[in-house]
Amino acid sequence: MFLVKPTCKKGMMSIHAALICALSIQLVEAYIPTVSGTPQVLGLVQDPTINRDSCGSSRFGSRAFWTCRDSQPFDSNGVPTLPVYSSSASWTDFNSDGTPELQSISGYGTGLLMYGNNNEQPFYPILADECNDNTAGSCSDGTRWAIWPDSPPLVTSEGSDGSIVAYTWIKQSHITSSLGVENPDPPVTLYRVNYDPSTAGSSGLPTVTTVQENFWESTDFPYGPYGGVVSNGYAYIYGQNAAGSVALAKVPVDSVEDKSAYQYYIDETYITSNPGVNASGINIPNVSAGGQGTFYYSSVWSLFVWIGQASDSVSADFYVTTSPSPEGPWDTPTHFYSATNGNYFLGAYSLQAHPDLLSSSSENAIYLTYTKNDYTNNANYYTTPLILVQWE
Ligand SMILES: *[C@@H]1O[C@H](CO)[C@@H](O)[C@H](O)[C@H]1NC(C)=O
Ligand SMILES: *[C@@H]1O[C@H](CO)[C@@H](O)[C@H](O)[C@H]1NC(C)=O
Repeated sequence: MFLVKPTCKKGMMSIHAALICALSIQLVEAYIPTVSGTPQVLGLVQDPTINRDSCGSSRFGSRAFWTCRDSQPFDSNGVPTLPVYSSSASWTDFNSDGTPELQSISGYGTGLLMYGNNNEQPFYPILADECNDNTAGSCSDGTRWAIWPDSPPLVTSEGSDGSIVAYTWIKQSHITSSLGVENPDPPVTLYRVNYDPSTAGSSGLPTVTTVQENFWESTDFPYGPYGGVVSNGYAYIYGQNAAGSVALAKVPVDSVEDKSAYQYYIDETYITSNPGVNASGINIPNVSAGGQGTFYYSSVWSLFVWIGQASDSVSADFYVTTSPSPEGPWDTPTHFYSATNGNYFLGAYSLQAHPDLLSSSSENAIYLTYTKNDYTNNANYYTTPLILVQWE
């Protein structure tokens, strides 16, 4: 637990006011939430035509918008086939009461139906120097440019006409056939996602523009891929370097493409130039458990929240930590739920929280997903179980 600096002035208030002040301080303490009852496994988030890895979601108007990594069509026997495309996107719907619309999906039982026209093309374009003559980014020397989103798009504006602007930062991972990396701290590409409901149609997807290929150079700290949250007109974006440090930058929501508008948190203050990938004083203690996850703001708790996986874990063990501000102090990440692992060698990863699936910001609950990785009948299947956790 942390006490946030009192804003009430000592010696200038009545006992009554001092008590109110003390209570308000208590309310903004970081704390570790407790699960109420048994989390419910609701089914799979599934497009019955696509096998897809590592999905995350954002709220786009009246629907949830999902982005995933490697995606493949199923053949007529339901077996994943070629081509592999390095990212895909899709929609899911809500019931009129605001809950996710669970329905029967042929072959998958009850689940949340994903749909959208991907046309077997990467949602986030693979660029000219990333072996983009194929949809996977595969190079003739056996290496691969794996242009994989680690986080869903960060929505920075929503027009009254339903148009949406969102951003995604993606590391230019250049991997070897054994999942080794050619550059442990690669440059980061900034993509803009635009959604115009008047032209997209119900199955149409947002369009993606490459804002800048090397938005962050490999010598810069890679802000963005590790997740972000919008609060008080700022996009707060996190990054993680190869050494495992997690650091934070902020930028006004209308200036995400303007590098001069960024401020970088280091040694407990903000500076105006990127401190560099290995600068000391950038790591924010306990901001995450070290693995992949999701940042969001809980208005029920008036706290920033991170939910995700521990570093080096390949199990569906969910951790949570909270803080009164994006910069901290963050409480110690605590394990709160374990889901079923897949049977393949990387059994469970890409653990995500989905505040965008809640019916309102006052619902004291969270939806979780992860990639369950199974190998059956000589094929590798990714599924995305959906879990509902109620908090005390
Ligand atoms: C940063 O540190 C990593 C080791 O974690 C190292 O591989 C890399 O070369 C360093 N980068 C720079 C620019 O110093
Ligand atoms: C952060 O977590 C570590 C354990 O990983 C713990 O020892 C430490 O007290 C935590 N720091 C804070 C500020 O809570």
